[in-house]
Amino acid sequence: MKTEIIDYLIIGSGVAGLRAAIELAPFGDVLVATKDMPTESSTEYAQGGIAVALSDEDEVGIHYDDTLRAGDGLCREKAVKILVEEGTERIRELISWGAEFDKAGTKLDFTIEAAHSRRRILHAHGDSTGKELERVLLNKVRSFPSVKKYSFAFTVDLIVGEGRCYGAYVLKDRKIIAVLAKATVLCTGGAGQIFLRTTNPLVATGDGIAIALRSGALLEDMEFVQFHPTSLYSPYAPQFLLSEAMRGEGAILRNINKEPFMKNYHKDAELASRDVVSRAIISEMVRTQSNHVYLDMTHLEKNFVQKRFPKIYSTCLQYNLDLTDTLIPVSPAAHYIMGGVKTDNNGATSIKGLYAAGEVACTGVHGANRLASNSLLEGLVYGARAGKAALEFGVRSSKSGIPEVTGEYIPTYHSIPEHDEIRRTLRKLMWERVGIIRCRESLDDAIRSLSEWSFILDKAFFTRRELELKNMLTVAIIITESASLRKGSVGAHYRSDFKEKGENWQKHIMCEKEDNAIRCNIE
Ligand code: SIN
Repeated sequence: MKTEIIDYLIIGSGVAGLRAAIELAPFGDVLVATKDMPTESSTEYAQGGIAVALSDEDEVGIHYDDTLRAGDGLCREKAVKILVEEGTERIRELISWGAEFDKAGTKLDFTIEAAHSRRRILHAHGDSTGKELERVLLNKVRSFPSVKKYSFAFTVDLIVGEGRCYGAYVLKDRKIIAVLAKATVLCTGGAGQIFLRTTNPLVATGDGIAIALRSGALLEDMEFVQFHPTSLYSPYAPQFLLSEAMRGEGAILRNINKEPFMKNYHKDAELASRDVVSRAIISEMVRTQSNHVYLDMTHLEKNFVQKRFPKIYSTCLQYNLDLTDTLIPVSPAAHYIMGGVKTDNNGATSIKGLYAAGEVACTGVHGANRLASNSLLEGLVYGARAGKAALEFGVRSSKSGIPEVTGEYIPTYHSIPEHDEIRRTLRKLMWERVGIIRCRESLDDAIRSLSEWSFILDKAFFTRRELELKNMLTVAIIITESASLRKGSVGAHYRSDFKEKGENWQKHIMCEKEDNAIRCNIE
């Protein structure tokens, strides 16, 4: 098997991965491996913005309180403190590297989204904030000759021996390479693609979560999946996100009879938390027997809408939907997973030499429900921290101390001709049975159906689609098992059979692999 030895391996090229690379690049050779183009990540598609307490009317303490409130009692307070405090430094640094956030006159322009008590969300080019972050971070990374990028390089599994990670097996150009590294940083993003309706790009198949579990890492809080209330609903259009910032700027939700309804559900109406708005939309859809509601911006000034949301405006126009004179059909979609690979405040996982940051990780900053626009900030803050911690670990190790990889990782490869059909069925099952509203019966049903495909879990595959399916199935099982264990409704996890928080609600659910089975426990 071809082997490469480097100092640091970063898996994933979104905000967290690139920020970690910048931290490591001056001190060693870094490989950023990504399964698609480097720009193909959730970061690139992030619209609304990045939350940071930098406006004159704001304070880090208020950002901290809002984050804890959204997290519904399950945030780790220290992790949130780090996020809001270091977040201001990370944004100033990003601006010094050339990030151009939108301005009102000479000052930064801040918008508002659900559950924020202040206008604190920076945005770029109106609604293309993630693209601007990715541009600046990629440029910065390019300035370091020590960083090499592998595109279309799929990480199959981590190389772990005696509780220590030494890199990963990567599928590239139809060959498996062993990439050996002193430290590895996992930044592979989320898993929205396991749900039929999602705002996430096609790459979000939960790969990092699944490979970490397979190598023995501890996962935490996987039942907490955030559903975004407004994704474009049309048989002729992709499931495109309609940013919450639109409601922040005054957009109204109407049912199919064109009646506004959010005030009937919550005093904060359109700006209630995402779980509340998503469930309200589902209730209205059931009540009016429709598969969508509408987002209405027609009362807002045409020029403002076109200028403030240029990407959303032009995308909707491609499908003959003009935001300024038409009600836009929307429905909720899976958006963000709060749980993930458990880390400490420096991105360290339960496996030595393995760090994680961004959506793949569970730092505890989001608790049971993420405050809108906190995730890009988390990627910057915890990407930098994970990079720093990987460096500290790396300087204590040497490349010559990495054990040789023998030919043992040459398994028998399998193929599942019906893998696309299984993927479709799995996504539908997860959406219908483990989606916005869950109950004992729906979860039992999902566990039964998912277990019919368990033969996939211990097989080795040689194509990206099949490897993704195996990872999607792994993550689907963990989410369902965790949702089944949490007999109560907290944050984004809602059980129609346990509407209250229930006993032990402040405990966390941990999952790990034990004797080839996945075990989840409340701790
Ligand atoms: C949005 O623009 O609505 C998404 C922002 C986020 O999820 O943080």
